[in-house]
Amino acid sequence: MDKVNLTATSTFGLEAVVKRELKNLGFEKQTVTDGAIEFEAKISDIPKLNINLRAADRVLLVMGKFKAYSFEELFENTKKLPWGDILPIDAHFTVTGKSVRSTLYSVPDCQSIVEKAIVEKLKQKYKINWFEKSGAVYKIQVAILKDTVTLTIDTSGAALHKRGYRENQVAAPLKETMAAAMIDLSFWNPERLLLDPCCGSGTIPIEAAMAAKNIAPGLERKFVSEDWGLIEPIYWKNARKEAFSAIKTEVMPKITASDIDPRAIEIAKINAENAGVDDVIDFAVKPFDSIKINEHYGVCISNPPYAERMGVLEEVEQLYRDMGRLFRTDKTWSVYIITSHEGFERLYGKRADKKRKLFNGNVKIDYYQYFGERPPKKQ
Ligand SMILES: C[S@@+](CC[C@H](N)C(=O)[O-])C[C@H]1O[C@@H](n2cnc3c(N)ncnc32)[C@H](O)[C@@H]1O
Repeated sequence: MDKVNLTATSTFGLEAVVKRELKNLGFEKQTVTDGAIEFEAKISDIPKLNINLRAADRVLLVMGKFKAYSFEELFENTKKLPWGDILPIDAHFTVTGKSVRSTLYSVPDCQSIVEKAIVEKLKQKYKINWFEKSGAVYKIQVAILKDTVTLTIDTSGAALHKRGYRENQVAAPLKETMAAAMIDLSFWNPERLLLDPCCGSGTIPIEAAMAAKNIAPGLERKFVSEDWGLIEPIYWKNARKEAFSAIKTEVMPKITASDIDPRAIEIAKINAENAGVDDVIDFAVKPFDSIKINEHYGVCISNPPYAERMGVLEEVEQLYRDMGRLFRTDKTWSVYIITSHEGFERLYGKRADKKRKLFNGNVKIDYYQYFGERPPKKQ
């Protein structure tokens, strides 16, 4: 089993970002559905994907896809799949499930039928009747959408936003994958100043610095499929080696990050140090209304409070007004703000050039994008 189908999952609205990342990693042919991008790869590509994808949530190994309208069909079609090629005799496997607009709607029943079918298949292969499940972890998912069943095994383990650098966080931290996507969707590049004036635990500036220096997000963490016998350790070693040598140590982006809360800045500094990018981020304790911009063509990317989750509404609204007032003083600045406050544009005082609907956890948010003048082309 060398060629496999994989799915990179993403937050709703970020599919295009993950699609582009996959293309850059060499996976051109993709099928995109809501929150999932499926593509063909080799088993040995699993390390490279987990280590390098910045905006994806997980990488799943697709075991099979079929229609099922009855439990019998679910059982028989699951049993036909090559589980014995992936799961060793001691595999510690669990089955979770979800069902949307399908005849088979009872998720607990579907889970237990899939589990029974897998056990039957493994009994045939290993010629035993009892499985200890004492070995490596395999998280199997049965997902049924409009009667199409997709069976996958998670290769990532902890979700990919868990890079390992964020030991501490503030009250409403942004997912690292979302911060990475916000940067990818902006026109920021390391030659322009990046400002996050409400940086909290530092996720946006840290992700920006890592992207600029091409530090792979998964370089410092482990993935569940490393414990499977399926992927030779040499592939993990090589993928890490390759990622290390791709780091652009010479790139020194200019990043400024501030927050009104001294504790947030303390945390952000530690996180930046953990991520190895503290040398390119200037952190400061500063309320927004004392910020001055004295450089052209800067880019502000920020996740200010929404009031839904933190902050008092009047203060939050004043902050949005202050933002509009400051950035209107220099037409060369580009501003990218994520918030769930539907009155943001009115308070900021200008309609966004572009708006993108996203989700931060379960909160519906908009990514407001104001494009400043382009920097002059270098001679
Ligand atoms: C949603 S949190 C940012 C979370 C951050 N993106 C992270 O991942 O940790 C909003 C931050 O804005 C800060 N803040 C609120 N009002 C502010 C103001 N007037 N000036 C500067 N920072 C402010 C809060 O202290 C908080 O850390």
